[in-house]
Amino acid sequence: MRQAGRYLKEFQEIRARVSFLELCHSPDLAVEVSLQPFRVLGVDGVIIFSDILILAEAMGVPATFTNEGPRITAPIRSERQVAALPIPDPADRMPYVFEIIRRLRRDLDGVAPVIGFAGAPWTLATYLVGGGGSKSLAAIKAMLYSAPKCLHQLLGKLARATTAYLNAQIEAGAQVVQLFDTWAGELSPEAYDEYALGYERQVIESLQRDRAPVILYINGCGGILEKMATSGADVLSVDWRLGLADARRRVGNSVALQGNVDPGVLLGSHECVTKAVGQALVNGGGTGHILNLGHGILPQTPIENAKAFVEAAKQFRGRSS
Ligand code: CP3
Repeated sequence: MRQAGRYLKEFQEIRARVSFLELCHSPDLAVEVSLQPFRVLGVDGVIIFSDILILAEAMGVPATFTNEGPRITAPIRSERQVAALPIPDPADRMPYVFEIIRRLRRDLDGVAPVIGFAGAPWTLATYLVGGGGSKSLAAIKAMLYSAPKCLHQLLGKLARATTAYLNAQIEAGAQVVQLFDTWAGELSPEAYDEYALGYERQVIESLQRDRAPVILYINGCGGILEKMATSGADVLSVDWRLGLADARRRVGNSVALQGNVDPGVLLGSHECVTKAVGQALVNGGGTGHILNLGHGILPQTPIENAKAFVEAAKQFRGRSS
């Protein structure tokens, strides 16, 4: 959940010299930034430093990154534009991503697992169609309810591109892959089935599952959790609006859970952080649970509180083993 980022002074020092995209494109810098949270916080796994919009760039739709988030200047709005989108050869168009994974594997072998990731088709489409910055997802909802065929064509292409991209990450050495369908919680349950779940399944069932388990994240998944559990993912990563004990009751033991401390808790006292970690670990059920935040760490987070989160988890683990 955004391990690296502006809350880390080590990250900001590098970002003061290079742009966000230069950082994503440079294996030397991206490996360094991927390792920063591991060194500073002592987390158990390392997610590669990149962004879900790197795949959009490889499909010829570049994004710019501003303080208000990513922006796509030429959004996709017509069937003609969808038809013209290429399915990129990952090794050819994004070689730096696989170089980052290979180097991280070399540095971390036997020490910590390397986690790859991509955006799920629906979430990637919200940026490609919306251009970024819209809380209501007005542009993609307009397409969904006025030109559903066009949207399905786009989602189908994104599913193929995402599958090839994630399989190439597994090939390069990613030991776990996380599929971010962050904005699928903005859909009605019926629309979730048709425009998100079907494509999550398409991607997940075509991945090399014997080599890497799959984590699926949806922000605001409380209304669709049982459906999400039918995606085929090994781990459901859930946000904090949902209690973990409740989530476990609803999905049974067929999947593992990840999450789900409110990132806002890290703006409070150490006692708040320790309490929230303890609650998540008790409610997550001990086994089949990856402790994490329920969404990305906030840039305002004091580093001491991020450390307190990891410390509390390790103390709890020490006591229960
Ligand atoms: O955790 C890590 O260190 C891995 C890197 C990572 C980034 N983005 C780097 C990043 C990961 C896993 C992502 C995924 C991502 N990107 C998602 C899905 C997960 C989620 O958070 O919901 C989404 C929706 C995006 C698109 C995106 N990129 C947004 C909405 C933003 C702005 C939010 C913000 O915090 O500023 C970005 C920019 C971004 N991607 C930053 C980082 C570290 C911040 C940019 C900076 O510090 O300069």
